[in-house]
Amino acid sequence: MEDRHFLISDVDNTLLGDDDALVQFAAWYENLDERPHLAYCSGRFYASVCRSIETTALPVPDVIIGGVGTEIHLVESGTRVAGWPENAASWERDAIEAVLVGHKELERQPDELQSDFKLSFYGRDLEPAFLAHLERQLTALGHRVEIVYSSNRDLDVLPPKTNKGYAAAFLARCCKAEPHQVIVCGDSGNDLSMFQQGFRGVVVGNAHQELRALSEENIYHSVHHFAAGVLDGVQYWLNGDSRGGSESGAMIDSRSLDG
Ligand code: GLC
Ligand code: MG
Repeated sequence: MEDRHFLISDVDNTLLGDDDALVQFAAWYENLDERPHLAYCSGRFYASVCRSIETTALPVPDVIIGGVGTEIHLVESGTRVAGWPENAASWERDAIEAVLVGHKELERQPDELQSDFKLSFYGRDLEPAFLAHLERQLTALGHRVEIVYSSNRDLDVLPPKTNKGYAAAFLARCCKAEPHQVIVCGDSGNDLSMFQQGFRGVVVGNAHQELRALSEENIYHSVHHFAAGVLDGVQYWLNGDSRGGSESGAMIDSRSLDG
């Protein structure tokens, strides 16, 4: 009976960052007898992540979650999952953007980094008080949003219940993967939500302070950087998992995701 794990990893500064370490990670992954399903979960959009897969040693994944969790693609067929994001009905993109451009602390990211469900700005060293104010301001105007701040620089405003963590949880649910079967890996603030879903976590050694403070027992902090940290952490969880193969397996196909 199948009991496959699901590996969901951030790309930039998590798997990417050290070419030699990535080659070692890819060799390990490709030689496994029982490969976990693989998903990348990036702030970048699908086409951009595909370009990285073509030009680096990144193994070809089953699924790409792109745009900070706003889009999910099945890689083999290239299809985008139609049922995601689930909570965008009330999302008033243009009105929200008008509020954001009104703040002198924020500078709009280039057009190619914006989408129907992702508004992205730069804002250096924003204080928690500023982020809280922004959220209150949007809420007072009737807008429900997710605000994601990463690397002391990137501010993403997304529809409610939409971010990397919610998208990863949706993927796990669709594939009937139990939380203990899912391993998530990341380095910065936009990965934080992935660590808040009850999954097993791997924080790479080069991570930002934003993730270093996590202290839950389901989160492993590697001393190794980039893909070497991912490899170390994933092996930690896989080798430590003594559970037999008695639970229902996590299957990926377009039927399970076309919801
Ligand atoms: C990626 C995206 C950018 C986003 C950042 C943080 O760099 O291209 O738009 O702000 O991730 O989520
Ligand atoms: Mg990253």
